[in-house]
Amino acid sequence: MEKYVIIGGNRLSGTVRMSGGKNSVLTILPACLLSKGACIIHDVPRLSDVYVMKDVLKCLGAKVEFTDNTMIVDASNITMVELPDRLTRMMRASNLVMGPILARFHHIIMAYPGGCSIGSRPMDQHLRGLKILGAEIVEKYGYIEAKTNGLVGNEICLDFPSVGATENLVMAATLANGITTIRNTAREPEIVDLQIFLNAMGAKVKGAGTDVIKIVGVKELGAAEHTIIPDRIEASTFMVIGAITQGNIFIKNVIAEHVETVISKLREAGIEIKEYDNGIRVKCNKRPRSVDFKTMPFSGFPTDVQAQVMGLMTVSEGTSIVTETIFENRYKHVDEFRRMGADIRVEGRVAIIKGVKSLSGAYVESSDLRAGAALVVAGLAAEGATVVDNINLIDRGYEGFEQKLRRIGADILRVDGGKERH
Ligand code: EPZ
Repeated sequence: MEKYVIIGGNRLSGTVRMSGGKNSVLTILPACLLSKGACIIHDVPRLSDVYVMKDVLKCLGAKVEFTDNTMIVDASNITMVELPDRLTRMMRASNLVMGPILARFHHIIMAYPGGCSIGSRPMDQHLRGLKILGAEIVEKYGYIEAKTNGLVGNEICLDFPSVGATENLVMAATLANGITTIRNTAREPEIVDLQIFLNAMGAKVKGAGTDVIKIVGVKELGAAEHTIIPDRIEASTFMVIGAITQGNIFIKNVIAEHVETVISKLREAGIEIKEYDNGIRVKCNKRPRSVDFKTMPFSGFPTDVQAQVMGLMTVSEGTSIVTETIFENRYKHVDEFRRMGADIRVEGRVAIIKGVKSLSGAYVESSDLRAGAALVVAGLAAEGATVVDNINLIDRGYEGFEQKLRRIGADILRVDGGKERH
């Protein structure tokens, strides 16, 4: 397994550019399946999850070219409506092809996407919404088969603002016959980015970013060109890195309003954050103050930044209380922080963190993408060497992570069974 070896204690400083947003590209690539033409997507991050999604699209018969950070997806000739188990188990977001394929080809069979270490992650909201749009759905032998004679617009009210269910249902409704109104939708920026792309293809979607989205179905969608919005979770991670290393980092390619809640929480912790037209500067020259936070759907505090800010709180002055409301099992990083000397107690969905003066380096293991990033955050500030294992999980969501970190002064190496790799 590849590992990071980090020597902590450097104050990181310099400029770093964020990549295109993983969670935007993972819904915009499936959206290309709705088009009879070739779509061109710019600022696509080179992430393992993106390569998996590329394999998913190719498995369905789409032609896909990926050069530098531009991907061309030509779904004019889809030959398959079945997704194999090996692909859907690799990445939950593969379930986002369901809405587009069902809407355009009226049939899809796919293995149930695996859960992962942060929770069971069922798809009931996705399937309930597709049934309301006229799909017949059979779930057996670990597979889901959905069929329709053609989706029909309808009124859907989500039980809670699921990001994936919102994306799947909006995409499905673009080719439904009639008008669809979806209420209690997720309001994440990635859904606004999806709406912009769908409308560029000829769809009629409005309301993304609010909790009601209205879609007027059209006969077919054409090709479009689009640039992915910056990755707000990567930007939040680097803000925490600037804070915990007591450095001075300028983050480019970030939309400040997408990270306002994280900025506000870090300012409450005493971190100096300034917003400019072309980026955000993070400066810190003292131990952070302890702050409490609760993860919420956007525009609340993002669950994908919970582990990273918890890492910062492990060395804060005071006690902080963290509540994870989105996933039922997103505290696997706590044991690993404890190995580094953190003082954390977990009671159900609540973690109580008593700040210590400093962490000590240790051998730690990533349990999921964001937990892995949080262990790197902690290792950058810990005394001595930290080895972070299972960093293939980090490669799912952070493009060129160690290169970006080294460019701002981090002492970090990727090793593969003892051999250094650059
Ligand atoms: C998206 O996952 C993101 N992934 C996740 O980011 C993010 O943590 C999550 O939204 C919440 O913001 C992508 O966009 C590819 P949900 P998604 O549907 O769509 C439950 C990362 O680190 N649920 O909003 O799967 C579910 O189990 C990843 O980049 C149901 O019960 O999230 C979870 O507890 C991790 N039934 C909660 O809702 C359903 O039908 C939120 O899920 C759907 C979801």
